[in-house]
Amino acid sequence: MLEHGGRLRAVANKYSIPLSQWIDLSTGINPNGWPVPVLKSEIWNRLPEDGDGLHVAAASYYGTQKIVETAGSQAAIQLLPKLRKSCQVAIVSPCYAEHELAWKNAGHEVLRFKSDEVEQHLDQLDVVVVVNPNNPTGELLAAGQLACWHEQLAKRGGWLVIDEAFMDATESESMIKKDMPEGLIILRSLGKFFGLAGVRVGFLIAENPFLNNMKEQLGPWAVSGPSREVARQALLDCDWQIKTGPRLQNDSKRLEKLLSYNKLSPSGGTALFQQVISERAAAISEILANEGVFVRLFQDQARIRFGLPKDERGWRRLEKALSLI
Ligand SMILES: Cc1ncc(COP(=O)(O)O)c(C=O)c1O
Repeated sequence: MLEHGGRLRAVANKYSIPLSQWIDLSTGINPNGWPVPVLKSEIWNRLPEDGDGLHVAAASYYGTQKIVETAGSQAAIQLLPKLRKSCQVAIVSPCYAEHELAWKNAGHEVLRFKSDEVEQHLDQLDVVVVVNPNNPTGELLAAGQLACWHEQLAKRGGWLVIDEAFMDATESESMIKKDMPEGLIILRSLGKFFGLAGVRVGFLIAENPFLNNMKEQLGPWAVSGPSREVARQALLDCDWQIKTGPRLQNDSKRLEKLLSYNKLSPSGGTALFQQVISERAAAISEILANEGVFVRLFQDQARIRFGLPKDERGWRRLEKALSLI
């Protein structure tokens, strides 16, 4: 099992600081997520059904009908490698580590490349996986470059898998097309921009035959009724979405400034997090944890990801903790 951010209970135990006293910046989840209303009792009682409006809402939000819902994009990440015979897969790295694990576990040969190394190896590759914008580096690859990779892979029956979990605040950069071409597979998540990580809803977007195969593998009721209803309403709430994008961008800029002021200039980020590279990363995360501020230290011990504080109290706590590093 890989380590992830958000393990607040384990960290609270380790540092003997009560759960309620922590500022959790260890994920890239919007801390002020879509406000979930009380759901009708029948949504809890009845089996989930197609035709409940989720597909219509998702099609309108993502701009395509070529879409299937999954229990978080994680479910799609785990299933995708099982839909191909053993092959050569390049993963633009570092990125969300579950991709590499899933392809390796399914018996594929996995190569790690930086984004500028992919092009020269494309001829030998069957699948390229890229997180765009990337977590944790924040790197955002241009649509033109991705289109070029896709064209070369698709010619030989290959796939370009783009994980757009963090794309919502920069939607114009998305590679989603109304009519999805063969060999282009896009993953989206309701866990990040919408802040609904607990609801476990994501989407896979691809051409029809691929979607049908995916649906068969997922089986019936892959996403629970309450989750479907919350996702439906959130995807239709344009007022909330329009306010949220700029608010996250502003908060992310504020975080970048605060970190830079404390000599931790970020080397990249998105609307939902900033990444700091530092030889002192482990020591810094330890100092912050002792102050009840939980950040994500990566395994290479040289990289920290800072998520956004929820409110002014959170900003003040972060400011104070940073003054001690
Ligand atoms: C880049 C990326 N993709 C996918 C996921 C999985 O998210 P979820 O299963 O909540 O949609 C994560 C979770 O952290 C992530 O960082």
